[in-house]
Amino acid sequence: MKKSLFLFLFLSVFITNLSAQKVYLPTPESIGKRPMPEWFGNAKFGIFVHWGLYAVPAWANPVGEPFKVSWETWFKNNAYAEWYLNTMKFKDAPTWKHHVETYGENFDYYDFVPVFNKKTVAWDAQKWTDLFSKIGAKYVVFTTKHHDGFTLYPSTVPNPFVDKSVINSPKDFVGELAKSSRKAGMKFGVYYSGGLDWTFYRSPIVNLFPDIFQSMPKSVAYTAYADNHYHELINRYKPDVLWNDINYPDNGDFLGICAEAINQNPNVVFNDRWGKFKEYGQYSTPEYRTLDSISVKKWETCRGIGYSFGYNQVENDKQLLSADALVDMLVDIVSKNGNFLLNVGPNANGEIPAIQIERLEALGEWLKINGEGIFDTKPYTVAEGASNQKIKIRFTQKENVVYTFLLDKLTDNQLIINKLKKGIKNVELLSDKPVPLKWKQNNEELTLTFPEKTKESYAHTLRVTY
Ligand code: GLC
Repeated sequence: MKKSLFLFLFLSVFITNLSAQKVYLPTPESIGKRPMPEWFGNAKFGIFVHWGLYAVPAWANPVGEPFKVSWETWFKNNAYAEWYLNTMKFKDAPTWKHHVETYGENFDYYDFVPVFNKKTVAWDAQKWTDLFSKIGAKYVVFTTKHHDGFTLYPSTVPNPFVDKSVINSPKDFVGELAKSSRKAGMKFGVYYSGGLDWTFYRSPIVNLFPDIFQSMPKSVAYTAYADNHYHELINRYKPDVLWNDINYPDNGDFLGICAEAINQNPNVVFNDRWGKFKEYGQYSTPEYRTLDSISVKKWETCRGIGYSFGYNQVENDKQLLSADALVDMLVDIVSKNGNFLLNVGPNANGEIPAIQIERLEALGEWLKINGEGIFDTKPYTVAEGASNQKIKIRFTQKENVVYTFLLDKLTDNQLIINKLKKGIKNVELLSDKPVPLKWKQNNEELTLTFPEKTKESYAHTLRVTY
């Protein structure tokens, strides 16, 4: 009697659990209706890592910020160091000159494979994740296969043109980084170049139209190759983000990939770079760009600290954004419902160059004090305010608090800010210990008096409580 009661209880708990776990089908209805997992909207700040064979030459002509240089000039002088393989195909351009001088003209791009494999034997994910979590990042997105086709994990999907000893890393960088990121409390996502694979297409890409579109492999063999990679990545690493790049083959198993990814990990989110499947993307991905106002649809800006995603040894302070500019960008993005996926480009040994670390740490220090106005917040009714000192103002909100950010330095200790709704109870300046401020509100105009000795900050945050 006792035994059968126990069995009954056990079975009912088991069945309830089973039915609570929704199974997603590879259909437009099932995938299209799925709500966006909450963590992504709250995360605000992630780290993108572009790393691969291109970290060996680590060289590009820093011609200018992407999207600000004409496309005619861009491909020959591509500032993206991860495009080295394409850029070196222009025999009258600086990358080829650098290549011949450094490695000789008979040195093929894939000759970087043994160099990379040797330099990275001792690589340890922990150093990266210690830094990323220390500075407050909530997720990491890692290049599992960039346009050159080299996979950062020992894939078992055969490439029809290149031997696996060349095209697949023997070391499982993806697995190690996934494990270590999660251990440090961060989510882990996979970047995959679905639209471009230069082992399937070998001619140089000279211009955006029509070259880049023509260069996207569309064969049955490529479609199966990309699909199989995704299935493999999902089964092995259960990613929290599928960050596809450029496009996806029209006949690809996009819905199957989505369903499998969700069923393996209910937290998974998908970006929007999936070609004809773009509409299923849960967030848009402006690159080296931000939005002017609040967007109800979630979005994520990605960019390098300088002009490149992959490490470019030529870059210096002239190309890299300052910590101050990074802080302003993060605040601006978050105020408009975006996330900031800030890229790090490690060198071939897997070390993150000092000029990148400096800026990341400064941003992290700022977040330690001001992060409560960033993480887990929602946009306020407007993103931008104005002030009498022409200081740029941004807002976010959480429960009964409106966080008000001053993106420029105070020029006077009296500041008037508009756009804050009536009913303020209290205003504090976030600092090591919050500093109460003298304030007076007249309709939507708030007058503040700062103490004479207000500590400088890349951006002051006011905790305005209602
Ligand atoms: C682009 C570039 C690429 C970079 C990426 C990140 O499409 O081709 O090098 O990986 O976007 O957004």
